[in-house]
Amino acid sequence: MPEKIQKIDHIGIAVPDLEAAIQVYTALFGVGPSSVEEVPEQKVRTAFFQAGESQIELLCPTAPDSPISAWLAKRGGGIHHLCLSVPDIDRALATLAALGMQLIDSTPRIGAHGKRIAFVHPKALGGVLLELSEAPRPGCGVHPREPHAGSAGPHG
Ligand code: CO
Repeated sequence: MPEKIQKIDHIGIAVPDLEAAIQVYTALFGVGPSSVEEVPEQKVRTAFFQAGESQIELLCPTAPDSPISAWLAKRGGGIHHLCLSVPDIDRALATLAALGMQLIDSTPRIGAHGKRIAFVHPKALGGVLLELSEAPRPGCGVHPREPHAGSAGPHG
């Protein structure tokens, strides 16, 4: 996209049992998760494993009506989304909208780690669900968590 992409921020993997998946990935990485966090707005618990400058995000639903529950019911588990880090998420969303790409979030919401995120519909990218994540600005610290309208999207 015309907006500069800084890196693959993380790859999201949907799992039916977070504790079991944490054990498997801890064995794989040789070290435990860098963080485990519940994102109540998205009805998921997440565990992040550091993989160089990127991360692996394990996602597990906390309620039957979590969007991840429906996804797991259909597919069992697996790679759920790709997350790219951009310096200015508002500008990135405006650019993608102008290109005619179908957005799930036309305005950013707050995801894991208090980061500003937004999802692009898989139809726009050949079946890949894309999450955009705004890189924290130097000296700015973590964005405050703030309420957002609805939570129809896939997760946080
Ligand atoms: Co994610």
